[in-house]
Amino acid sequence: MATVILGMQWGDEGKGKITHLLAREAAVVVRFSGGPNAGHTVIDRGVKFGTHQLPAGAFYPGVRCVLASGMVIDLTVLREEYETIAAHLNGKIELIISENAHLILPYHRTLEELEGSGASIGTTRRGIGPAYRDKAARVGIRAGDLLDPDRLREKLTRRLALLQRLWPASEEIASFSAAGLADGLFDAGRPFLTSIGDAAGVIRAALRRAPAGGEEVLFEGAQGALLDLDFGTYPYVTSSTTTFAGLGQAIGIPNPRVERRLGVVKAYTTRVGQGSFPTEITGGIGARLQEKGGEVGVTTGRPRRCGWLDLVALKHAARLNGPTGLAVTKLDVLSGLPEIKICVAYRLRGERTERFPLADEDLAHCQPIYETLSGWEEGLEAARRQSDLPRAAREYLERIAAELDSPISLISVGPAPEETIVVG
Ligand code: IMP
Repeated sequence: MATVILGMQWGDEGKGKITHLLAREAAVVVRFSGGPNAGHTVIDRGVKFGTHQLPAGAFYPGVRCVLASGMVIDLTVLREEYETIAAHLNGKIELIISENAHLILPYHRTLEELEGSGASIGTTRRGIGPAYRDKAARVGIRAGDLLDPDRLREKLTRRLALLQRLWPASEEIASFSAAGLADGLFDAGRPFLTSIGDAAGVIRAALRRAPAGGEEVLFEGAQGALLDLDFGTYPYVTSSTTTFAGLGQAIGIPNPRVERRLGVVKAYTTRVGQGSFPTEITGGIGARLQEKGGEVGVTTGRPRRCGWLDLVALKHAARLNGPTGLAVTKLDVLSGLPEIKICVAYRLRGERTERFPLADEDLAHCQPIYETLSGWEEGLEAARRQSDLPRAAREYLERIAAELDSPISLISVGPAPEETIVVG
């Protein structure tokens, strides 16, 4: 069977824990979009990791890890992560890197600083936007270029000439040389040269075997639906497709057969970076959620903005992802609140609406319309079955499932793998 794990909010839904759990059963685990902007928290045998480039399959020897062509890869980050996890496992990680995946070069980070998108969009400053832009502008460097050093140096020379023409006053841009950049790529990427190849072919073969032989293929999404380049809260989005709709293109397989689409929903909402956030709570309960939920960015260490669950935004995400089931995470963080609000509609310029506006300028004017549900006092960390949960928590989950028209498949009640309720 094939499964895809998708974020249903602005990222940081807790996908890392869920993919780590499901990767245990998988033969192949694929990351298909984004790059080191993602920071997936994984607790493996009691040790906490923040993964940025490798999929969660890396924690299970023998599981093949694929970095598909929809990704942008920073080889230095990949190398560091690979070595840390391999040392933890005391073994090797089986890796396949798409020859078409674009590489993040040091000048992509420089460009992000020169253009100021770190401040204006609140990006993760990992060079993501400039790397995807180079891909679209057809001046990118791809993993496959590493297999031909002359071709690589030639492409870098052309790219640098263009950059130096566009940024004549930048000393940092002037300091880059094609030879230096190529050396940097080879230094970091040498152990991966034999891993670069036809990732689409590997995935296609695995998908062909999946239904017949019971082999599990797991696709690990990054970021969340509301950060999608096309259907997110533009311009405060990332530069890739983060939804199920983008999977086929990102792996190079038309209409991939993915039986299980798991939408990961945090029991409340968080957002990092700039952009409108109708259900944000400033101070009070917001600060409490931030502290109790440990809401600090894994990649950047920035505090995450916190707010109530937003059904208008979630229904928009459900339309984009078509989940067959939901994984609700961090339910334990809501314990101790006497009441819990849930946003059921917006008021936009005097009118009630249940439509999620695609322009941030409109979202900025949306006032949330809330319903108030009962909270619960009890801690949930020890719950292992749905029936262990207090009634108010069960009702909260039932409401989410009914509104999104999708059953709850998993409930996470703590960061450790065992603090999970598997439904059905
Ligand atoms: P970029 O992806 O670094 O270009 O950042 C664009 C926006 O997406 C910023 O608001 C980031 O905070 C947000 N973003 C990117 N990756 C993640 C993630 O993994 N979790 C949460 N937000 C993210």
